[in-house]
Amino acid sequence: MNILHVCANPKPTEQSVSKQMAARFFGKLMELNPDVVLNNVDLYQEKPPYYSNDLYRRMWNPVFDPTYEPTKAEEAAANYATKQAELFKTSDVLVLTMPMWNFSAPGVMKAWMDQVLAPGLVFEPTDDGPKPLHNITALVLLVSSGGIYKEDDNRDALSRQINAAFGFIGINDIRIAWADGQNPMYCSDCAVRRDMAFEAAEELAEDLAEESASE
Ligand SMILES: Cc1cc2nc3c(=O)[nH]c(=O)nc-3n(C[C@H](O)[C@H](O)[C@H](O)COP(=O)(O)O)c2cc1C
Repeated sequence: MNILHVCANPKPTEQSVSKQMAARFFGKLMELNPDVVLNNVDLYQEKPPYYSNDLYRRMWNPVFDPTYEPTKAEEAAANYATKQAELFKTSDVLVLTMPMWNFSAPGVMKAWMDQVLAPGLVFEPTDDGPKPLHNITALVLLVSSGGIYKEDDNRDALSRQINAAFGFIGINDIRIAWADGQNPMYCSDCAVRRDMAFEAAEELAEDLAEESASE
């Protein structure tokens, strides 16, 4: 099983609940399935560029104009996206680790998604809708937040965005472990909630290991 792990958190692991969830998830997965091939992308080590018009032209012009020839600048603008898309396309499972920031994903995660979720890279636009150009069957979302969000809470733009953006390219199996209530000013049971989320992350790892063993 090939896993692409994309992490959007500037904190060191010992200060980050979401990174500790990822450590628990991968610790359990590797214990149960040592054959896992893991590609780690730390978005604070290698920051994705913001979307540019050169990148827009390189990605979308071929969709509308078969005679389009990219300029050198347009080719260069696609370097990061192409490299990340290669990792994406050789993966079976995508794991996203992040905190909730302003009710959504951190900006670097959104920038990464803007780069990678592009036509010709991970999907092909067709008359019948987007056709996946990847083999990712499941997405694991490891997230931590100060507040508590019940399912379908309108303030939760994070899981909605992940569901919509990855569902668009055919990834509908989205599994979530969420350490909510991590703000001690509002929640007296932060540690209990954190530990429950660690357990949930390990359970997701167990499920994946079991599924890969039965394939
Ligand atoms: C810039 C910023 C914005 C935040 N916005 C939210 C928010 O909208 N909702 C929320 O519940 N928590 C918010 N928080 C709190 C974090 O989500 C929370 O502390 C989380 O546990 C951090 O995860 P980490 O320990 O993995 O970094 C925010 C924190 C920061 C630094």
